[in-house]
Amino acid sequence: MTISDFSIGTDASAAVGGTRRGTTDPELIAWVNEIAALTKPDEIVWCDGSQQEADLLTKQMLAEGKLIKLNPEWRPNSFLARTDPGDVARVEDRTFICSTYEEDAGPTNNWRDPHAMREELTHVFDGSMKGRPMYVVPFSMGPLGGHISQLGVEITDSPYVVLSMGIMTRMGDAVYRLIEAGEPWVQTVHSVGYPLVDGVGHRRSDVEWPCNETKYIVQFPDSREIWSYGSGYGGNALLAKKSFALRIASVMARDEGWLAEHMLLIKITSPEGRAYHVAAAFPSACGKTNLAMLRPTIPGWKVETIGDDIAWMRPGDDGRLYAINPEAGFFGVAPGTGETTNPTAVQTIWGNTIFTNVALRDDGDVWWEGLTDDVPAHLIDWQGNDWTPASGRPAAHPNSRFTVAAAQCPQIADDWEAHDGVPIDAILFGGRRATNVPLVAEARSWKHGVFMGATISSEQTAAAEGTVGELRRDPFAMLPFCGYNMADYWGHWVKMGRLLGEKAPKIYQVNWFRKGHDGSFLWPGFGENSRVLEWIVRRVEGAADAVETPIGLLPAPGALDIAGLDLSDDTVEQLFDVHRETWLAECDLTEEYFAQFGDRVPAALNAELASLRYHLKHQ
Ligand code: GTP
Ligand code: MN
Ligand code: MN
Repeated sequence: MTISDFSIGTDASAAVGGTRRGTTDPELIAWVNEIAALTKPDEIVWCDGSQQEADLLTKQMLAEGKLIKLNPEWRPNSFLARTDPGDVARVEDRTFICSTYEEDAGPTNNWRDPHAMREELTHVFDGSMKGRPMYVVPFSMGPLGGHISQLGVEITDSPYVVLSMGIMTRMGDAVYRLIEAGEPWVQTVHSVGYPLVDGVGHRRSDVEWPCNETKYIVQFPDSREIWSYGSGYGGNALLAKKSFALRIASVMARDEGWLAEHMLLIKITSPEGRAYHVAAAFPSACGKTNLAMLRPTIPGWKVETIGDDIAWMRPGDDGRLYAINPEAGFFGVAPGTGETTNPTAVQTIWGNTIFTNVALRDDGDVWWEGLTDDVPAHLIDWQGNDWTPASGRPAAHPNSRFTVAAAQCPQIADDWEAHDGVPIDAILFGGRRATNVPLVAEARSWKHGVFMGATISSEQTAAAEGTVGELRRDPFAMLPFCGYNMADYWGHWVKMGRLLGEKAPKIYQVNWFRKGHDGSFLWPGFGENSRVLEWIVRRVEGAADAVETPIGLLPAPGALDIAGLDLSDDTVEQLFDVHRETWLAECDLTEEYFAQFGDRVPAALNAELASLRYHLKHQ
């Protein structure tokens, strides 16, 4: 094996007269050489993030059949990737948090002893890149040089990952310069686990989507390292996203006094021209991307997008909480994204988009369930087979995705790349609840808000709804993403509230998914959610009325603008009904849920639970 410093970036920049060759940083070079000695690639490619580099990689992947070029007439500079049918989603049962002590990972994570895991990984990664190039991908989460931003480097043998990281992060040469200047950075290693040369030197040919049946998504929180093996897909392979920006960053945030959250970010401008910023945590498939791209139905209000999945928040010099979207792109679920549900997303993906596992139209454009009302008569499905409406299976995989630059969003906020972030006025927690949880409730205090976040639960539409026993807990929508003990994480939130004091954002619980007796949604949702945002903004301004209930502050009669909506008085009553018995039953379930964390549950949350019970019984 020879490790050359040949690079696609070098080649491409040589073509335009440049001479860049990766980095001069000795620590980065030593680490790259160490990983190369283990994984034994054919060559090392120092990526520079240039357009030429992306074009060259795309050309290679097209030639190898790993991408399909879409018809540029409909979808310029856009491509379709089809994964292996066994590599279509995050693998939570193969995701490990390897902290020194098991209690620090907590009962909601898969823990493995870090020493044992390192040994296992060394074995697994030995020669895993044989016959392939190894790409070094430098990236910044958040604007380059921003003081909430963080740097990282991903080593990968997947050109799909390189292209996707180029869209989802600020990727390129400028990051090497910051590393050389001494900025800290996080090490992440990824291999699809499909070497092209075996142990005795025999070559095998490549496949369209190389991966391995055995998968590992491993986080070492103490050394801030990530090792991912066997998958080429999204959250498993784009290590800047869930692995770094949530699992590792949540640990950094705990240690350094900030917050790394599974939250969308929006800017709201009132008819008076005053701007507010809101962050919201909803579990997967509960509408973050939808709310991030909301188009208000009420006159005079404007909503603009800052982020649709992750927020990093840190107290600023003025004592308020400031947030950035650490990502530079959207990795959004395709099915259900259509002209009626999310026209902004549809406009965002006009071109320069990588689609994964969607269906291919005969005219060379893409399609998925919910994109248009009319269903094409013939398609090639996500597995490359002929498909007609009579096929009886989805044409696009339910977890098929689009990857596109955030800058292409027609309603991206002017301050979405603000170096110091945007000041947060309100934080929302939500889930999919057919019963019990009202459309909107305001927390009485920060601690009460943390209790709301810690008790988020969601019901699945397929399951028998309406019984409290069906709840699936997803605290802060962070269940698969918290890099340490969930109860300690709640404690960190309580602590942040103490730090922010009077300047802490207000906290709300929202639920767009409550259902009536006939099983249909009570609230029209989508663009109409702007009415709820209006009440929240007016509360922040001190200009809207609320009534006390045991579970929090609800809009006073008439305070929520529902003019023009076809809602009966009975529907409105059902939307805001707080039923004592079922809430008391929920308190019992919460107590049971908290019990698994033992005495690590913050006293403040036990006090909130006691107070909720007291109010339910006596108010
Ligand atoms: P991840 O990207 O996986 O983290 O999830 P997400 O939170 O971004 O979910 P996404 O926005 O893709 O969820 C979309 C789902 O929520 C679709 O089924 C939508 O129809 C539904 N949805 C979004 N907003 C509303 C709403 O206001 N009302 C109703 N009834 N459904 C909604
Ligand atoms: Mn989303
Ligand atoms: Mn997400």
